[in-house]
Amino acid sequence: MNHPSSIISLTVFSLLLLISHNGATEDITVETCRKSAESSPNLNYTSCVNSLQSDPRSSTANLQQLGIISMELSLRNATYINSYIKKLLNDRDLDDFTRIEKYLRDCSELYGDAVSNIEEAIKAFDAYDSFSANIKMSAAMDSSTTCEDGFKDNNSNQNYSAVSPLVREDYDFFQLTAVSLAITNLVRHSILLSM
Ligand SMILES: *[C@@H]1O[C@H](CO)[C@@H](O)[C@H](O)[C@H]1NC(C)=O
Ligand SMILES: *[C@@H]1O[C@H](CO)[C@@H](O)[C@H](O)[C@H]1NC(C)=O
Ligand SMILES: *[C@@H]1O[C@H](CO)[C@@H](O)[C@H](O)[C@H]1NC(C)=O
Repeated sequence: MNHPSSIISLTVFSLLLLISHNGATEDITVETCRKSAESSPNLNYTSCVNSLQSDPRSSTANLQQLGIISMELSLRNATYINSYIKKLLNDRDLDDFTRIEKYLRDCSELYGDAVSNIEEAIKAFDAYDSFSANIKMSAAMDSSTTCEDGFKDNNSNQNYSAVSPLVREDYDFFQLTAVSLAITNLVRHSILLSM
């Protein structure tokens, strides 16, 4: 990919993003979350704004920097969830532990993969490769849905659906990665439009 033209289109896009709202200069996090929620129906606008604004760098960031901030939030969350799952596995004090242990182990592996995928996404996005970053973030997002689906697995000898102890974590992580993914899409589209 041609880096200089990507940088220029990113800059142009960031400027358009800032002035597109009736010429008013709106907070970039609000504007980015609005556009992201429009393009991704599963994305929670409120949690998008809350998570991005939790990082003080967001208010002065451009779209490229906001993408990195969002991926770093996803990375921190995946790392946290992974250690939380390990804690659940060590404590063994959940109801139904023996039944859900294998699902928890699967989730631990999935969130381990998510960490690597996000690290690779950050490297790619940092190098203005929003296409690869998009694929890696999408794979990271799948960890949360695959983890959650594990507890609904009815393949065992009985029709059994366990209560996931990770509903909240899986939802939060899904939301964080949805923001990263939406930003890589915004950047990708701005590059395609300028070709
Ligand atoms: C969206 O996120 C907010 C803040 O985290 C939460 O209060 C709300 O319940 C979420 N909405 C949905 C539909 O889950
Ligand atoms: C994970 O993300 C959720 C939602 O943004 C947030 O409430 C929580 O504090 C985060 N935890 C860590 C350790 O990053
Ligand atoms: C698993 O079984 C439960 C309870 O019978 C049911 O509600 C659920 O829809 C099933 N899930 C799948 C993925 O088939």
